Amino acid sequence: MIRFDASRSLWILETASAAFVFGLARRGSSVDGFPQSRLSGEGLLLQTWYGPRLSDPSEYPEAVPEPGWASFSTPASLSPEIFPAAGGPRFGEPSLACVFPDGVRDSALRYRDYSIDGEKLSVFLDDSAYGLEVELEFIAHPAWDLFSRRAIVRNRAGGSAASSSGGSVLIESLLSGAVYLNRGGEYRLTHLVGRWAGETRIERCPLGEGRFTIDSSRGFTSHHANPFFALDAGASADEDSGDVRFGCLAWSGNWKISFERDNFGLVKISAGYQDRDFSIPLSSGQEVASPSFIFGFTRGGFGAMSRALHGWQRSALSPSGSELRRVLYNSWEATAFSVDEAGQTALAEKAASLGVELFVMDDGWFGERTNDRAGLGDWTVNRKKFPRGLGPLIARVKELGMEFGLWVEPEMVNPDSDLYRAHPDWIYHYPGRTRTEMRNQFVLNLSIPAVEAYVFDAMHRLLSENDIRFVKWDLNRSISEPGSHAHGHPRDANIRHIEALYRIMTRLRSAHPDVRFQTCSGGGGRIDPGILAYFDQAWPSDNTDASDRLVIQEGFSLIYGAHIMESWVTARKNWLNGRELSLEYRFHAAMAGVLGIGENLSHWNEEEAAAAKGLIALYKDIRPLVQNGNLYRLESAERTSFLYAADDGSRAVLFVFLERNRFGGRMPPVHPRGLDPDARYELVQRSPAAPLFSPPSAEIAGRAGMTLSGAAWTERGVEVPLREDHTSAIFEFKRSPLD
Ligand code: GLA
Repeated sequence: MIRFDASRSLWILETASAAFVFGLARRGSSVDGFPQSRLSGEGLLLQTWYGPRLSDPSEYPEAVPEPGWASFSTPASLSPEIFPAAGGPRFGEPSLACVFPDGVRDSALRYRDYSIDGEKLSVFLDDSAYGLEVELEFIAHPAWDLFSRRAIVRNRAGGSAASSSGGSVLIESLLSGAVYLNRGGEYRLTHLVGRWAGETRIERCPLGEGRFTIDSSRGFTSHHANPFFALDAGASADEDSGDVRFGCLAWSGNWKISFERDNFGLVKISAGYQDRDFSIPLSSGQEVASPSFIFGFTRGGFGAMSRALHGWQRSALSPSGSELRRVLYNSWEATAFSVDEAGQTALAEKAASLGVELFVMDDGWFGERTNDRAGLGDWTVNRKKFPRGLGPLIARVKELGMEFGLWVEPEMVNPDSDLYRAHPDWIYHYPGRTRTEMRNQFVLNLSIPAVEAYVFDAMHRLLSENDIRFVKWDLNRSISEPGSHAHGHPRDANIRHIEALYRIMTRLRSAHPDVRFQTCSGGGGRIDPGILAYFDQAWPSDNTDASDRLVIQEGFSLIYGAHIMESWVTARKNWLNGRELSLEYRFHAAMAGVLGIGENLSHWNEEEAAAAKGLIALYKDIRPLVQNGNLYRLESAERTSFLYAADDGSRAVLFVFLERNRFGGRMPPVHPRGLDPDARYELVQRSPAAPLFSPPSAEIAGRAGMTLSGAAWTERGVEVPLREDHTSAIFEFKRSPLD
């Protein structure tokens, strides 16, 4: 619900239980003991509320500028301006910085008007001397307690005297705007850090004075940071309760989120394009939009935050919404580049016999691809490996009752490829400088229209000529030497690249509506709410060790839903760290997301194949809960447990992993969350098949076979008699039919 309180010049955006309010400042008032600034701050657009929704909207404060401080800080530098443009006495992170055609770098935006259309608000600002317009667009997502916002900058210079000097306005920095936390609190930042094979690990730190930035300038989202944050005051929030303010940025190129705590205790968060390798010339009539920044507030701790984001992804963001994702097989860890018709057919036959629904052939099927030194760019089938083309393999996969999927890496080219030999200028480079290779490959410069057309055509042809229902779209290096001479200005290439990628995906999806897409970048390098508007699921990491994976998956789950989180069961002895884990443990960890199998199936004996078949059947039964339920993270560290509960409270599935049993101790019970307190639930052990419980068991906690109310289960907890390192179990709470 969005409204404008005209009497107090206040825009009020409310969701089910959160509110974001800003207003047009009237003349500033002096505060006892503080010198009144000569500048009043009148006309500034100031945030006045970001927190819980109030039952009486007249209680939201109106916009009053902060008084100045000595000769060094004015209202504009001290007040919570929602879109501080670089100009006048402003010294913090600007939401917009531009250079006008005459060299002036001073923006002077003034409020003009606004419009409200349902859950969308647009506030218009003008720098009339130069014909520059900024539209601040806000959208409320009431059911999820989320808001999104972006800024659209337009050059409307026409015939005015100042703009008649001609030329473009150069946009040197563009963020979605700023949001603020209450002045004076001690805030703790939660964000995600990582690297290849170790993505999305949770990091927590206090926000001190100064500026702290998380970002990527690698040309894509990156493994190293994810455009997300959560802030709580004084470490007061936990999984179940506490005020959490959080946000994420929908952009898959260079990005940044900065956190500034000024010397007066005001914390400002700004999110948008990373301004390294950035500048956009805007000629008259052109516009540029910042990425969308999604932000929210909850009183329900980090758990409620994640559930809001997951629900929003399923209902609003994801192109295939809550459609159940298929159990897949992927060939990469089994056959690497050595794919051929006979080998893949044999794997497909084994996969189908286990209950797999989608067979994905990974790298190695195209061009001269026998290793990672050749072939990228040449998206035609390798006739030595597939003399009859892909047709017979796909036909066999379909005959076996599965869909067929294929790996591609369309934004890349190997120097050893027909494409590169024909178009050496299609890659990012600077003339006369080294063209850096990483994984023996270059990045195609998608900001060049001919390259965009080539990539679209190659993928469109592939999908038109073959019955492919799933595409794993990879990106296996960072972008360096980001030069582009094809688009008029060398420093906007990254934005043009990502825009071209989004355009290609829009066209591919509309031409091939039955195809589902996975975003992959050497694991989880390109996962963000921008890409997830075009891709149905994601590959979180090349690290398939189930033990490490639980850590990666926990961080992933802070932001992204389990319907996005693909996870594979791979070899008993992991390739990365040599750790050996049981089939069951590997399955259980992978069943917490979108289940896939990546092991060479010819290595499984009959007993293992039978166990796998049973676990895949179990996964299909609990899949609606995992993929579309509400996640409750219960504990992590030596033991990890979490639960997915159905929306209607009818079922919940509990996963428990004992990572390490120290000193032979008996672990405390696991306390479930998310059950209907008044309903009665029977606890059923779903896996392993053999009962873990041999009575008598501890009576303080509940155990499998018992029926208790949701309230009792939550309080008493579940006795989980796992003793050995790396053992795990899956339980289900089934609501009694009497309820
Ligand atoms: C990346 C992916 C892997 C696999 C290889 C193929 O590393 O993350 O899953 O597809 O590329 O080269």
